[in-house]
Amino acid sequence: MKIAIVGTGQVAAALGKGWAARGHMVTFASREPGTERVQQLLADAGPNASAARVADAVGRSSIIVLAVPFTAVRERLEMAGDVGGKVLIDCTNPIAPGLRPMFDATTPGGATSGVEQIAVWAPRARLVKAFNTTGAENMAAPRYNGQPSTMFICGDDEVAKGATAQLAEELGFEVVDAGGLSAARHLENLALLWIHLARVNGMGRDIAFRLLRR
Ligand SMILES: NC(=O)c1ccc[n+]([C@@H]2O[C@H](COP(=O)([O-])OP(=O)(O)OC[C@H]3O[C@@H](n4cnc5c(N)ncnc54)[C@H](OP(=O)(O)O)[C@@H]3O)[C@@H](O)[C@H]2O)c1
Repeated sequence: MKIAIVGTGQVAAALGKGWAARGHMVTFASREPGTERVQQLLADAGPNASAARVADAVGRSSIIVLAVPFTAVRERLEMAGDVGGKVLIDCTNPIAPGLRPMFDATTPGGATSGVEQIAVWAPRARLVKAFNTTGAENMAAPRYNGQPSTMFICGDDEVAKGATAQLAEELGFEVVDAGGLSAARHLENLALLWIHLARVNGMGRDIAFRLLRR
């Protein structure tokens, strides 16, 4: 697949290196693609990876992955140009001070999750929420004692979810489809729980969720 990863930070690096190593063509969309830091990321990611400004990266890709702070998403999308028809995977966590969700039932405008707000900004994109409920280290190494950790995904476009599930499984996750895009409110809250356990409860970042079924 041709994948544009918007961002060059922890999440972008983990996902981009993993997919490039598995044969996908990955373009990191950076505000400054020529910097030494981004060049080092490309060297680490290998020959299937390149870097570009956001419009070029998105133009050459059918899958777009948002791996920037939520507060930067709108501007990045405006710079991306037309994302209509493209799969748009939202990894962001919109977090308010005090480890609270930025979106809930009282938010003006009706969006109860960040990705539903992104759907307003990019109405023709094929949105999927994924890769937000675990730490970046787990995206690089999703297995614990040989067992896959769970990647929850949701969205209203089944084909887009299928492509996202494939990309998650290739990294080593077990995928659980949580339903339509409105389920993202639960995924975004689950991310808050992960952060709470890791940081506030002192469990550290080597933790991951796994859904068990009888
Ligand atoms: N870290 C985690 O474990 C984790 C896990 C799940 C989800 N998330 C979510 O994933 C997203 C990315 O997290 P991250 O930890 O990868 O972040 P990060 O390491 O801070 O990297 C964010 C990247 O976004 C780009 N960016 C674009 N506009 C920006 C702006 N206005 N301010 C700052 N950076 C900007 C930067 O790349 P350029 O400078 O190259 O443009 C930067 O490298 C966040 O929404 C976060 O909540 C993080």
